Amino acid sequence: MEHMDQDILKVLYSEQEIARRIKEMGAQMFEDLQDKEPLFVSVLRGAFIFMADIVRACQVRCDVEFIAVSSYGNSTSSSGVVQITHDIQQDISGRHLVVIEDILDSGNTLYFLKQYFMTKGAASVSICTLLDKPSRRTKLITPDYTGFVVPDEFVVGYGLDYGQKYRNLPYIGVLKPEVYTK
Ligand code: PRP
Repeated sequence: MEHMDQDILKVLYSEQEIARRIKEMGAQMFEDLQDKEPLFVSVLRGAFIFMADIVRACQVRCDVEFIAVSSYGNSTSSSGVVQITHDIQQDISGRHLVVIEDILDSGNTLYFLKQYFMTKGAASVSICTLLDKPSRRTKLITPDYTGFVVPDEFVVGYGLDYGQKYRNLPYIGVLKPEVYTK
């Protein structure tokens, strides 16, 4: 039977390594956020798995929201234009937001979202990303919480996709080039 693992060149972060790092991040975030009743906003779709794990690793009194944006289309690099396809469902004025992302790449998405939430009256907007790829950055944006800094390789799994697939791999791996060049 064909298994998704066959398309993976190497594992960058195992399920156990991810879990360990998220526990550390959650503890750090708890220290910073315990008095703020933060609103965690997950950016769909890639961050859905990380969101589920980070909110359980950070036991603050909080609520959760989801926003969906599209910027990449079907391409593998960002067009720079960010559109909201599903907006959050509540008034965020005066709230401390923590935006949860799976990966920070060019910075286009988070640059846009940070401004968008500040315009809507958020008291603060911090950024929590599992992966950071600083080598690709074109916008001045720095995460407040980072899981791992990754090299410029095509990573999939743990929410990250290629052509909408591989999101359900429990680890983060590098895709074999022949998968995306064929
Ligand atoms: C990915 C990722 C971020 C964005 C980061 O989403 O989840 O939202 O790209 O890239 P940037 O820093 O260059 O803006 P994608 O558009 O692939 O959609 P997805 O979350 O549905 O996978």
